[in-house]
Amino acid sequence: MYISSLTLQNFRNYASEKIEFSPYTNVIYGDNAQGKTNILEAVYLFSQGRSHRAKTDRELIKFGKDFAKLGLEFHDADRDYKASVQLIKNGKKNIKINHVQITKLSMLMSYLNVVMFSPEDLGLVKGAPSERRRFIDSAISRLYPRYLTSLIDYHKVLAQKNSHLKTLKIKGEPSDVMLSVWNEQLAVEAAKIMEYRTEFVRVIDSFASKIQKEISGEDLKITYVPDIKTESADKSTIFKYFERNRRREIDFASAQTGIQRDDLRVSVNGKDARTYCSQGQQRTAALSAKIAEADYMQSVKDEYPVLLLDDIMSELDINRRMYLAEKIRGKQVLITSTDTDVALSTENTRLIKIKNGAVIKEDG
Ligand SMILES: Nc1ncnc2c1ncn2[C@@H]1O[C@H](COP(=O)(O)OP(=O)(O)OP(=O)(O)O)[C@@H](O)[C@H]1O
Ligand SMILES: [Mg+2]
Repeated sequence: MYISSLTLQNFRNYASEKIEFSPYTNVIYGDNAQGKTNILEAVYLFSQGRSHRAKTDRELIKFGKDFAKLGLEFHDADRDYKASVQLIKNGKKNIKINHVQITKLSMLMSYLNVVMFSPEDLGLVKGAPSERRRFIDSAISRLYPRYLTSLIDYHKVLAQKNSHLKTLKIKGEPSDVMLSVWNEQLAVEAAKIMEYRTEFVRVIDSFASKIQKEISGEDLKITYVPDIKTESADKSTIFKYFERNRRREIDFASAQTGIQRDDLRVSVNGKDARTYCSQGQQRTAALSAKIAEADYMQSVKDEYPVLLLDDIMSELDINRRMYLAEKIRGKQVLITSTDTDVALSTENTRLIKIKNGAVIKEDG
């Protein structure tokens, strides 16, 4: 899968620009704060429907403007696609693919596949459990829209259960029937979600440990740590588990257990990566997990995703860069850098210079 052009109007610091890409390596370079990451962010928007870093769509609209318009042309083995995104300051965003309006995010995710690796991804190793859940959820959702549906349904019911638990605290009613109704619905979705997560982490672990071994010779292990610790993860076992926690949940007036507390354990050479690894080891582990995600996508979809690598070369030593260069040979990569001196350059590399929200010159 590859993208061939991106048009931006009033997006971040871009007034109006069209950028054309090589199907292989594209190095987007320029000084700090010129608009390099903004380009990756724009591409990511077409895959996920949201930015990887902005809290609201509003931030994406150029200061002083009321709307932003983006266009993307991309291609997979079967088809050519033309997509557009319109962001309106006080309105809903509008996304179209080949002129058909996309009404659900789960629909969008089935078209363009990208894997982004940015400095924030260190959170995969160092950050809070929520960051690791986001990695899992976003990767699985893109491949299995039914997973996203289950996740959304689960969280809706969880919110209802939590507000119900608050009323119980006041009444102090341990045998409440409604609580069991919510627990039953949660158990149905939790069983599905845990099954997807277990399988995803199993595959990611096998890919990532192989990649880490090749990059650095280290043993990387990624394990799923479900919050619901039962012998089996079928819905009736999970329901019983929720029911055993009733007393505690009523006392706390909120849900105390469930897939919203799941985590991943990441270890390098048998040691917990968060506590014992050096900065470089943590980065390599996060990178291995992300490349594993790309390999996983290819194994499911038969298309290698577009790789968006934000500012990663400066963080990797020469061996790690060389490995990466080898790994992405023949695939499309958009990589940002403050200079053109990245070891990835081949005769197929396109150099795209960015200055103050505009493309200055394109080579290759
Ligand atoms: N809504 C907006 N309207 C106009 N300009 C914006 C908007 N949001 C961000 N910017 C500007 O975009 C620029 C940052 O762009 P970007 O993050 O792409 O930089 P970069 O080239 O990746 O820099 P670095 O090398 O530091 O990572 C900043 O100058 C910022 O002020
Ligand atoms: Mg940047």
